[in-house]
Amino acid sequence: MPQPTSQPGAQPAAQPTPQPSAQSSAQPAAHAAAVPAAVPALFPPRAEREAIEAWLTRELLAASERVAHGPTTPRLDMARFRRELALYDFRTPRPLEPLLAWTLTQLEHGLVHLNNPRYFGLFNPAAAFPAQCAERIAASFNPQLASSGTSPAAVAIEAHVIAALAERAGLPPQSAGHFTTAGSEANATALICALTHAEARFGGEGLRAFGGPVAFYASRDCQPGWFKIAHQCGVGRASLRLIDTDGFGRMDAAALGAALQADPRAGVRPVMIAATAGTTGAGMIDPLTACAAIAREHGVWYHVDAAWGGAALCVPQLRGLLAGIEQADSITIDAHKWFATTMGCGTFITRHARVLGEAFHVSADFMPSTEPSVDPYLNSLQWSRRFMGLRLFLSLAAAGWEGYAAHVQRALALIDTVRRDLEAHGWSARNASRLAVLCVEPPAGAAPVREIVRRVLASGRAWVAATSFEGREVVRICATHGESSAADAAALVGALAQAASGAPASQDPA
Ligand SMILES: Cc1ncc(COP(=O)(O)O)c(C=O)c1O
Repeated sequence: MPQPTSQPGAQPAAQPTPQPSAQSSAQPAAHAAAVPAAVPALFPPRAEREAIEAWLTRELLAASERVAHGPTTPRLDMARFRRELALYDFRTPRPLEPLLAWTLTQLEHGLVHLNNPRYFGLFNPAAAFPAQCAERIAASFNPQLASSGTSPAAVAIEAHVIAALAERAGLPPQSAGHFTTAGSEANATALICALTHAEARFGGEGLRAFGGPVAFYASRDCQPGWFKIAHQCGVGRASLRLIDTDGFGRMDAAALGAALQADPRAGVRPVMIAATAGTTGAGMIDPLTACAAIAREHGVWYHVDAAWGGAALCVPQLRGLLAGIEQADSITIDAHKWFATTMGCGTFITRHARVLGEAFHVSADFMPSTEPSVDPYLNSLQWSRRFMGLRLFLSLAAAGWEGYAAHVQRALALIDTVRRDLEAHGWSARNASRLAVLCVEPPAGAAPVREIVRRVLASGRAWVAATSFEGREVVRICATHGESSAADAAALVGALAQAASGAPASQDPA
């Protein structure tokens, strides 16, 4: 198994060197002696940090080059790995350098590699470089983003990016929002806002305030995380009404309207419609304008889950696809999907700043600021927060909307290439998505879809998923990796064609 090519810094871990601490001259020297030096394993001296960081940078770059040319799927001997892992009993401290080297090796061989350009997977991005820089900066300053009192500049940067996204989506200037850990947190925030908006006493009394069950509505192809959200929010999983699709993977607006008519007659209170702009499985966009009209007619909150499809907002020519998103009460857009930041970086945006403040208000006299319109701890689920938004700020500032438009369009060109090539091999596209996801069926007589996918993954030549679309088993191919090339697309098509024919998988690329 390849090992990192060098060891960080030739020196062994430095021994504790008690540093004179900066005390006030009024402080008796005896007190200084009573305070032990910082633990060097946790807070090594600068020279050691420099050596390790320089080594780490080199090693990570070398590893990412190997990853790009290697197998997409893990090749780690997990039995050996677990034996080694068990040796870390945390009783005996170990020097950091070999620990880092060991970790890099395990991760290089023990992951599905999202950075591999033949990863045509689940929207998990190859991380953009400015976002990686942001990770380092945020890790180093480690600001607490709960309040503007402690992190005024960082909180303002996040708010600036949220305002830019809101404007891009067509929401009014007074809109609000925040960065979330991921799309799931943003969607959960939407349901909390919808409940808060629907019933003034919800905050104080919880669901009892409704005097009966509530319901919210999403298409049967919505992201299944909504079930967990229903559970967490206490409305119960049964309150999620899965509306039929129209045969093309989009929510059937007539069925949605009928469900919102029927529920109140049965004593159930509708609170939210959650349309999906870019379904997870097939990249389909629900009829956003019709959903908005139905939400208005029934007086319910209108949320658009554009977790990954929201990146289409970057491309003026694609804006029409998302027509109706500007009518949303709230929107989810994940930066860690098609915006290619590192994991997890979601956003929640709403035109109702007041509802957000009402849902998450709290009073804590120990907090350094109490600015209801500004402080993240007063407007979001989290309290302590990391500086998540810096990754999108730096990426967006470095590339501009134009750069992101090019990033999105190259993905569309790539998925189109894959579709045409597969069609030439007798495969059939089943979804008519304008986004970068393709659902394809193999030619008649080929191996079953899940077997094809299993063979491709076993070969390590590419990564795709199996799913079902409108009742048919399909191979799902997503082309949102920002560096996949035409050659990678050709490698994918070759791997799929070979797996479909039942020929033994060729050697993986490693
Ligand atoms: C449409 C949609 N919504 C929500 C989510 C959940 O987002 P996350 O995984 O960031 O929590 C996903 C994930 O793929 C998604 O595709």
